[in-house]
Amino acid sequence: MRIIQAKNYEDMSRKGADFIAAQVLLKPNCVLGLATGSTPVGAYQRLAEKYRSGDLSFAQVTSINLDEYVGLSPDNDQSYRYFMNENLFRHIDIDIARTFVPNGLEKNAEKACTDYDAILAAHGGIDLQLLGLGLNGHIGFNEPADHFPCGTNCVDLTPSTIEANSRFFPTYDSVPKQAYTMGVQAIMQAGCALMLVSGKAKAGIVRQAFTGAITPQVPASVLQLHKNFVLIADEDALSEMKL
Ligand code: GLP
Repeated sequence: MRIIQAKNYEDMSRKGADFIAAQVLLKPNCVLGLATGSTPVGAYQRLAEKYRSGDLSFAQVTSINLDEYVGLSPDNDQSYRYFMNENLFRHIDIDIARTFVPNGLEKNAEKACTDYDAILAAHGGIDLQLLGLGLNGHIGFNEPADHFPCGTNCVDLTPSTIEANSRFFPTYDSVPKQAYTMGVQAIMQAGCALMLVSGKAKAGIVRQAFTGAITPQVPASVLQLHKNFVLIADEDALSEMKL
């Protein structure tokens, strides 16, 4: 595990974007595992700038996103497909047909999950997986549980996650209560797992996840066992860690 300390959100975003850009330069036809949430937005803006300035092309890249809310259509402005289109894909030259997000409209959960695992397998897994960190230690939408879910799975979101995500919705009741999420296996098998974390609110869970016990009660703690895990976090997020 490598920790790269950033000064603040801007610095974390710049370092994160440089890291992802390096992956794309090294392997132009790489598979990027992408994430949503407020944390990666700055890094996505930097990547779009690199594309606009002619320094980076995503023309051969495939992307496979971590998760999607059950029941939300791609044109719902709260869906993760919409988020990705708006925050990254429409600003770069990626072929939209090679961008994958779980199908939130698939009512048959088993089919939605099997289909997504088949997409992962067909692309030979992920070269670089970008991750955020939930306040309760979730990665993707893999919530605290008594085991690490292996493949793509349908999750009942915890009240704390629904609460945290309600800031993007008009009311608490309109936040979807379930999501499809990539499992821990695909994340652990990624050539590199890159997590971005910012802010004091995450300092406690960062300490717990990366200096505490490896337990499915803190899903991100499994990354301590990843062969190539890089944490780029700002000073606030690292303020409870002894580096
Ligand atoms: C959501 C996403 C996660 C993300 C988390 C943290 O729950 N499913 O992938 O890491 O939010 O979000 P934020 O970056 O806004 O704190």
